[in-house]
Amino acid sequence: MSTGKYKPQYPRIAQLKTAENLRDHLAKEGIILNFDEELKTGENSPFTKAHTTRAGNKIGNAFCILPMEGWDGTTDGKPTELTRRRWKNFAISGAKLLWGCEAVAVQPDGRANPNQLMINDKNLRDFEALYQMVEREHQNAFGNSEDLLTGLQLTHSGRLCKPESKTKMAPKILYSHPVLNKKFGLVEDYPLMTDGEISELIDSYVAAAVRAQKTGYKFVDIKHCHGYLGHEFLSAYEREGRYGKSIENRTRFIREIVSGIRTEAPGLEIGVRMSIFDWVPFKQGEDGKGIPAAESPYPFAFGGNESGIGENLNESFEFLKELEKLDIELLCTTAGSPYYNPHIQRPALFPPSDGYMPPEDPLHGVARQIEAVAKVKKAFPNFYTVGSAYSYLQEWLPSVAQNVLESGKADSIGLGRMVLSYPELPADVLAGEPMKRGKICRTFSDCTTAPRNGMISGCFPLDPFYKKMEIHETLKTIKAS
Ligand SMILES: Cc1cc2nc3c(=O)[nH]c(=O)nc-3n(C[C@H](O)[C@H](O)[C@H](O)COP(=O)(O)O)c2cc1C
Ligand code: SF4
Repeated sequence: MSTGKYKPQYPRIAQLKTAENLRDHLAKEGIILNFDEELKTGENSPFTKAHTTRAGNKIGNAFCILPMEGWDGTTDGKPTELTRRRWKNFAISGAKLLWGCEAVAVQPDGRANPNQLMINDKNLRDFEALYQMVEREHQNAFGNSEDLLTGLQLTHSGRLCKPESKTKMAPKILYSHPVLNKKFGLVEDYPLMTDGEISELIDSYVAAAVRAQKTGYKFVDIKHCHGYLGHEFLSAYEREGRYGKSIENRTRFIREIVSGIRTEAPGLEIGVRMSIFDWVPFKQGEDGKGIPAAESPYPFAFGGNESGIGENLNESFEFLKELEKLDIELLCTTAGSPYYNPHIQRPALFPPSDGYMPPEDPLHGVARQIEAVAKVKKAFPNFYTVGSAYSYLQEWLPSVAQNVLESGKADSIGLGRMVLSYPELPADVLAGEPMKRGKICRTFSDCTTAPRNGMISGCFPLDPFYKKMEIHETLKTIKAS
């Protein structure tokens, strides 16, 4: 298995074989991460806990599949066989909440890549067929799909748009950002989106939500994370006009979208995936490890403190209060951005090709998100709160996740990379089966490195379907260099 020449500096999880090993390592690193030594089974397992949302949608257990794109749609935004295969794997995973499946653009200029899915009138039948396939596959595997809740994640990629070509960026930005403008090659006075363009975009979100409802999806996620446009509104402290400066203005985008959806698509549930905190962008230091790319004070990290490398959830809580007022119940948490601080967003032992060596044991990243989500859950018990960034836990994932659920620190365990390599993990845990070691995601980051280099995403090291592809060889060469 190729992992390039890089030698990780932190112990691999597979080496932490016993509870004592894990406890000792956490103590040495100063990481607070609770876990259960014994996994409960049957009805006693907190993973089996069902929930009915205030809107009346049923979620049959406490596993959620996080949205994951494959960079594998057609150039006109339709799903391909590869997209269908990934969604089918989500459907038969055993999880009862499919959070949006993947980012779907609401208008052409907002695509993150020329192969991103896009929901429009021409693609309606394709989105309907995807939804029906998910329902059918889930029914075939588990007998019924009444308690399976499937949504669609709606997005505009803002600063990270690349709608036409895999190499040419066409950013849409809300304010000039001293670090990110430079990182993505934008001059300081690069034009900003106008308030008029934002109003048109809001109409596109509403139209996309109407289409999602028509094609079967039970909720839409209005994505506010990872440095994409929805997230950028929250840190538009210096923007003039209706969408900048005050928290009231910075949350106007979500309010206007929700108001439009409530009118045009009554009955459609709305969720929000948000980066509950952000940090300063990171870059490679001299020894290859990540270091902050800007000095403190760094004022642009929403939910972060001014050091740029810590949290202050006060403003995140203000945003959540707005969501509560909008009667939103479904909340999927995440943090940071995979583009400028990936070790915060998706802790990994092996960095993606455009990243840096982890500046900390990745378990810090896992624990940081769990702790922040626990604070959110405590302050806002009425959200149905999904946690993220569990994949790095590998063999210890069920033990930590059970503890999180039992101690009320989240309502649902979101799974990302782990289900690319090991789709049936939730079903195995629910059935009390031991984990299949050969399928456990080892955070090699190929699923991120491949799209960063213009290729489709997938688990090339561990999924036999991707392993045998020719581009796997290209990927190995890129990694080795
Ligand atoms: C290949 C890939 C594609 C992703 N695509 C999306 C996406 O479309 N929307 C989104 O909100 N997050 C996306 N993510 C982030 C994941 O949903 C998740 O937050 C992240 O992988 C951390 O969870 P994990 O530790 O279980 O992997 C993606 C992650 C990966 C690895
Ligand atoms: S490529 Fe596979 S093993 Fe590597 S991070 Fe992605 S899912 Fe995990």
